[in-house]
Amino acid sequence: MLTVGELVQAVAQRLDGVGIAESRLEARLLLAEAADWTLEKIIAERDSAVEAGIVARVERLAARRLAREPMSHILGWREFWSLRFRVTSDVLTPRPDSETLIEAVLRALPDRDAPLRVLDLGVGSGCLLLSLLHELPRASGMGVDRSARALVVARQNARALGLAGRAELRAGDWGEGIEEVFDVVVSNPPYVPSDDIETLDPEVSEHEPWLALDGGADGLDCYRRLTGELGYLVRPSGLVALEVGKGQAGAVGRLIRAAGFTDLAVRDDLAGIPRVVLARRPITG
Ligand SMILES: C[S@@+](CC[C@H](N)C(=O)[O-])C[C@H]1O[C@@H](n2cnc3c(N)ncnc32)[C@H](O)[C@@H]1O
Repeated sequence: MLTVGELVQAVAQRLDGVGIAESRLEARLLLAEAADWTLEKIIAERDSAVEAGIVARVERLAARRLAREPMSHILGWREFWSLRFRVTSDVLTPRPDSETLIEAVLRALPDRDAPLRVLDLGVGSGCLLLSLLHELPRASGMGVDRSARALVVARQNARALGLAGRAELRAGDWGEGIEEVFDVVVSNPPYVPSDDIETLDPEVSEHEPWLALDGGADGLDCYRRLTGELGYLVRPSGLVALEVGKGQAGAVGRLIRAAGFTDLAVRDDLAGIPRVVLARRPITG
């Protein structure tokens, strides 16, 4: 009979063999899922024997991962901003890079207890809007997505996090038809150039929604559309924060400036890549 440590080692080796970087952590997470154990238990009980039924469940999950299905789809969740978000193939898996946007917005707000109105365009799983509402106790917001299936997941996340009463989630084409002005507008739009999608890791190109990835020929299509709408969605002196892909901060900054926004700032992610463009709508104009 295999011990916990031996099983983790064997699965990690196979994951390693197909180029999965965090193979040991993922092997532990697969065992945690299969056995309904915590990671602490897996580490503490590394010399205990594992029941055959659990080994068989781990094998089934490992086979999916070896076929490069994302961990977030196998587990059904991903942690973001220390909150647990349900994830399916209908939404983009929340990325650690996007936490840069949450941090940047929170730092830019003078009063986190204000009753702010927040708009998230392309809300997906809800990770941006719901993390902000979690940090801003008196804020409320609206999340828009063109994908009805993504909105189902976002609503489940809003309920699970106890934020459904403060988050309106609705179908829409970016800002079309929205008549309100918001204190904060955030977006992480699709920004991968169309021809690059197939070159991405199979976890992304084969399992994530193209609607969440495809940014058109140069990756900037959605920014052109969004910056054309921001002028009537952000209140005077309100804040806009856009996540951008590698190498896009300059072009997106120019689009925002051309839309009449000022106080431009760029924030880097943990890898030092310019990841978020911030700007304010002037008080006049
Ligand atoms: C890159 S994902 C971001 C999801 C989530 N905000 C996040 O940061 O993980 C972009 C999202 O924009 C949505 N989207 C694409 N085109 C849209 C449109 N025309 N109007 C509204 N949402 C759109 C996609 O369905 C997807 O959920």
